[in-house]
Amino acid sequence: MDTIHICGGKRLEGEIPIHGAKNSALPLLAATLLAADVSELTNCPQLADVSASIAILRHLGCAVTQTEDRVTVDAAHLHCGYVPDALMRQMRSSIVFLGAIIARCGEAVLTHPGGCELGPRPIDLHLSSLRRLGVTVEEEHGRIRCSASRLRGAEITLPFPSVGATENILLAACTAEGTTVLRHAAREPEIGDLCAFLNACGARIAGGDNGTIVIEGVPRLHGARHRVMADRIEAATYLAAAAATGGTLTLKHCPSLPVSPVFAPLEQAGCAIAAVGEDLHIAAPSRLGGLGAIRTLPYPGFPTDAAAPLLAAACIGEGTTVCVETIFENRYRYVDELTRMGAHIRVDGRVAVVEGVSALRGADVACTDLRGGAALLVAALAAEGETRLTALHHLDRGYENPVGCLQAVGAHITRY
Ligand code: UD1
Repeated sequence: MDTIHICGGKRLEGEIPIHGAKNSALPLLAATLLAADVSELTNCPQLADVSASIAILRHLGCAVTQTEDRVTVDAAHLHCGYVPDALMRQMRSSIVFLGAIIARCGEAVLTHPGGCELGPRPIDLHLSSLRRLGVTVEEEHGRIRCSASRLRGAEITLPFPSVGATENILLAACTAEGTTVLRHAAREPEIGDLCAFLNACGARIAGGDNGTIVIEGVPRLHGARHRVMADRIEAATYLAAAAATGGTLTLKHCPSLPVSPVFAPLEQAGCAIAAVGEDLHIAAPSRLGGLGAIRTLPYPGFPTDAAAPLLAAACIGEGTTVCVETIFENRYRYVDELTRMGAHIRVDGRVAVVEGVSALRGADVACTDLRGGAALLVAALAAEGETRLTALHHLDRGYENPVGCLQAVGAHITRY
């Protein structure tokens, strides 16, 4: 069992290169299925979830090569539209393959992604939207069979701006007959990245900034090259690590706008954040204040994925931080582990109240989920003494080489 060992209390100082975004790379990999052609993604992070996506592409018949951050997908010869349960279960976002497979093959058979560590994970919005595009959906025993002799553009209004449903609609509608108008679509930056790739492949997608996306169907797409956008959640995690350790970090290749929803609470706590060209700079005070009130919301609100690492930073310092989680039901499982390290946190349903303490202490803790694991890492960097962090498969889903990145800025951290 791998363990990350951290001797905490070291002030972080230096530069961290931000990798490509997991939450962008996964839908982009699914999108490569749409063209019977070769596509190439650069700045693709090397993560367990990316490997899981590549395994699905290979199962469907794609030839995929991965060299460092470059992934080439040749989707000329697909031999099936069926994704087995074992591959579906490897990551929550495998459902985003549904729209791409149905568009390319006319039929998709997947299993239900089911619940996950963050609570129930319904896909009713994905399926009702696909039905609007002409897809017949049959569900039995957790298996979903979708078929469409042809996809037709439609007017769709989402009751909630679901990121996954927006991605599935985009993937299905690009080559549908006629125009699709999607209202109340998700506005997350990763949606913009997906639209940019699809347009480079010959799709005709317009709008998006105001929540309405217009997709004019085209007969077919061709392959394209695309650079995956920077990971705003990885960036937010390292901003939190700097804040927790009184550090000064420059995050390289990280445009500020997508990360900006996390700035206000960090600034309220005394951090100075500045965009310097394509880099992001943070200088934290020696003693952090409270982060005030955080409410997770769809973009441009505060991202649900950044709440855990920022709350971990809020544990050390003075002042109170209140977080209201509005997206997922069960996002505070890491709190018990932070409590082992001396944190003062009360959770009541979707609300967590953190009272800063003067010192955290190292402990043996286990990642409970991806962002919960990131929170424990942040707390361990700030804590006095040694922390041993286990259940690293959660962290490996979404952070590329965190140990190397943190060693380079002065952390005493090793993995064995
Ligand atoms: C969510 C995040 C996204 C993040 C991703 C990975 C939001 C709005 N979305 O996207 O930023 O990158 O996790 O961690 O913050 N829902 C339904 N029915 C559906 C689909 C969703 O009720 O068919 C509800 C869920 O119960 C939940 C919310 O919508 O309350 C989740 O939003 P959604 O954007 O769909 O989740 P992800 O696509 O996983």
